[in-house]
Amino acid sequence: ELKDNTIIVVLGASGDLAKKKTLPALFGLYRQGFLPRDVKIVGYARTKMDRDEFHKRATSYIKNPDNDPEISTSIDEFKALSTYVSGSYEDGAAFDNLNKHLGEIESEYQSKERNRIFYFALPPSVFVPVAKNLKEHCYIAKGGINRVIVEKPFGKDLESARELLGSLKQYWTEDETFRIDHYLGKEMVKNLLVLRFANVAMGAAWDKNSISNVQITFKEPFGTEGRGGYFDEFGIIRDVLQNHLLQVLSILTMERPVSFSAEDILLRCIPPIEQSDTLLGQYVAANGKPGYLDDETVPPQSVCPTYAATTLWIHNPRWEGVPFVLKAGKALNEAKVEVRIQFKDVTQGIFKDIARNELVIRIQPSEAVYLKLNAKTPGLYTRAIPTEMDLTYKRRFTESKIPEAYEALILDALKGDHSNFVRHDELDVAWKIFTPILHWIDGLNGPRPRPVAYPYGSRGPKELEAFINKYGYKRSGEA
Ligand code: BG6
Repeated sequence: ELKDNTIIVVLGASGDLAKKKTLPALFGLYRQGFLPRDVKIVGYARTKMDRDEFHKRATSYIKNPDNDPEISTSIDEFKALSTYVSGSYEDGAAFDNLNKHLGEIESEYQSKERNRIFYFALPPSVFVPVAKNLKEHCYIAKGGINRVIVEKPFGKDLESARELLGSLKQYWTEDETFRIDHYLGKEMVKNLLVLRFANVAMGAAWDKNSISNVQITFKEPFGTEGRGGYFDEFGIIRDVLQNHLLQVLSILTMERPVSFSAEDILLRCIPPIEQSDTLLGQYVAANGKPGYLDDETVPPQSVCPTYAATTLWIHNPRWEGVPFVLKAGKALNEAKVEVRIQFKDVTQGIFKDIARNELVIRIQPSEAVYLKLNAKTPGLYTRAIPTEMDLTYKRRFTESKIPEAYEALILDALKGDHSNFVRHDELDVAWKIFTPILHWIDGLNGPRPRPVAYPYGSRGPKELEAFINKYGYKRSGEA
């Protein structure tokens, strides 16, 4: 149920997010035939440029390494349906001008229906003026739908998030608003629901009786690399944990959804994180790579964490007593995002010193699900060895292409499906969980805590081992 007569307006079209994510995702959808018939794309930003220049930027991140003629043709078609308008974000008259441009496109339609999707690839400082100007100058009051797609940061703590969302709500209803957390568009995150609710074998072991602890890990092998000025205002918890990893946690642990309020009911069972359940780190120069404080855009002596591990507890009958360790860091030894569910020890019986079962869902790179289990060593004696059942996607699903998260989410928004977007009330509870430690880290109630140092390119702070052991994690030789 894609709607014909649709225009997708990308605001902030000259910026990085649009160039790297939004426009390539729109192209990907176009190429695969997933955009509405007769769709038009309109870029809007402050930068003055002509249509050619916009096309050059808009397609600079579209991959066609082998000059495939079919892709080249699609790129030309994509350019032909894309136009650009420049104007300010604050000035109403500029939005009248945008509206005029949209009206000209729409004057060619066969029917009266007109649909407009506004994608905010914008810095948060202009979210509110743009939301207001769009509503006042570019809104279809009758005979079509209007939707806005926005993305974090949604404030810096509970109070500022409430203020921002409250302001946006004056202009756009919840139904018209699609808040992106791009982790919800990732294939392996979506797969969690299938693993859990389409498999009796998984579902049966999915609780405190079988599970000892859960680790949700995000690792990036690069630092802020000259973009630390922006990062320093937020820190790793706001950048990755409070949104992406918390969303993964909520899908992993919620009850079978009977309605879409299932996630926020789950989050309501999680009390604010304790300082004692937190480990903070900051990377320092090593292996020829600069430390965080060597980034010239970072304020000198900043104590902003580039690494954090926090443990969350869910107070409900299913999860009481199971620690969920969320950890994320920049400038580590590898790129990896995974969920690792560690099961309890087998009760002492005929086998001793048996490795624990672990179910690992590797979100990226190389999407996989694998279950570590013990099997008899082949041979004329009985000994159990740890091995695994391995579902690595690129080996098993050789014909399938894993979609980009942004493609999946933009398609959902075009269809009006809210299920993979972040709801207002859900965001509110997410901030409640993190705001007290964020205020502590920001030094609002006393001296700011000092993060421990870890070398660029390492596995993280050396204190991590003791931290996860405290929550019952037993290393069983990571696969
Ligand atoms: C963003 C963060 O939300 O997610 C970045 O702001 C981070 O700091 C990025 O690098 C990670 O996304 P992905 O899809 O590469 O895992």
